[in-house]
Amino acid sequence: MFIKSDGKQIDTSSLFSTLMDNFPDMIHSVDEQGKIIFFNRRANDLLGYTENELSGMNIRQLYAPEVWETVKKGFHEIKQSGEKRVESIFACKDGTRIPVELTTLVIRDKQGAFVQTFTISRDLRKLKEMQDSMIHAGRLAAVGELAAGVVHDLNNPLASIMLASTLLKQLPSNTDLTGDASNDQMAMACNIIQESAETMEHLTTRLRDFMRGVKEQHTPVDLFDPINDALFILDYRIKNVKVQVSCPIIKSKHWTTGDRNQIEQVFLNLFANACDAMTPCDIRKLSVDIQQEIVNDKPFWRCMVSDTGEGIAPQQQEKVFKAFETTKPRGKGTGLGLSIARTILTEHNGNILLSSEPGKGTTFSVLLPVTPLPTDPVRLHIK
Ligand SMILES: Nc1ncnc2c1ncn2[C@@H]1O[C@H](COP(=O)(O)OP(=O)(O)OP(=O)(O)O)[C@@H](O)[C@H]1O
Ligand SMILES: [Mg+2]
Repeated sequence: MFIKSDGKQIDTSSLFSTLMDNFPDMIHSVDEQGKIIFFNRRANDLLGYTENELSGMNIRQLYAPEVWETVKKGFHEIKQSGEKRVESIFACKDGTRIPVELTTLVIRDKQGAFVQTFTISRDLRKLKEMQDSMIHAGRLAAVGELAAGVVHDLNNPLASIMLASTLLKQLPSNTDLTGDASNDQMAMACNIIQESAETMEHLTTRLRDFMRGVKEQHTPVDLFDPINDALFILDYRIKNVKVQVSCPIIKSKHWTTGDRNQIEQVFLNLFANACDAMTPCDIRKLSVDIQQEIVNDKPFWRCMVSDTGEGIAPQQQEKVFKAFETTKPRGKGTGLGLSIARTILTEHNGNILLSSEPGKGTTFSVLLPVTPLPTDPVRLHIK
């Protein structure tokens, strides 16, 4: 086709190929049989295949095997809907995985029959790196505050150890360890030391794991664990604000798949926010509960975190999920907590919802997919 411009004629087919070759995203087109019939230079460069290898290749080879079943389903859906935007994973020739955002359009003939798809694929590696650093930055900001609580909590077992050492010092130096009062005193001191050391180890391990957990590791997660660890880490703050906690969640009942540290990060922020919202209130109750529900034909856990705090005005409710949106004084809040929580939950195929009544309280609902109880005991992670 030709276009008139300043009286000159322009060959749009060469314009089209220049545009395609310089387009910053990968573009490809697939026929009814799933054969790649068109691709641009960017696709060549990023995927590492030669032009000859790519042309005619089955689209299946372009995707990481672990996502193929989902892609296949999406391919059937798109034939009905005509357009779709999804995230997926490409596998390069050398096996490297590229997370991509795909925008696919269906091209039909005049009778409406399917001819081919046309897909623009955006490389998400940089964006994912930025999201990881944001999650890590949010984690580090939380760590500073948590460390203060942990240091406080270390004082209790330390005081016990000091008491035990006083008990041991009081023992006569030539103690006969065969069943007298001195023996009982020694056993009691040893028990105190051991229990205190275990408490301290638990505190420091959770804090260390939380700080370290940058790399995502998706494994079976019993929601009991991240919820209780978050309550444990925030124990100091919860007691300080005199919050009454109700958490009737039972161990090994609510399994999902994900990164335990990141899920813990979500709950840490929700509990910390609830404590802040209840600080000026007379009644301070935090309740956590889980129920199962069906969303889009799939089973999900709905973990509800409810407080009796100040609540959030209706016009503020969507804004709180935006980065740097905070009502807290400088140095107290960065306004990243909920936006990070939303990023983490989206990565876990979940969601976060909010309902609130100003003056009465707020409930955040964390939605996460239900996964069956793991059968492999090595992967159970039961402490
Ligand atoms: N449970 C709640 N009750 C009332 N307001 C809340 C609640 N949770 C969040 N908010 C409001 O949403 C804002 C954003 O929360 P978010 O967790 O994203 O950031 P932040 O708590 O202010 O800072 P950060 O989490 O980075 O320390 C808060 O400043 C607060 O105004
Ligand atoms: Mg917060």
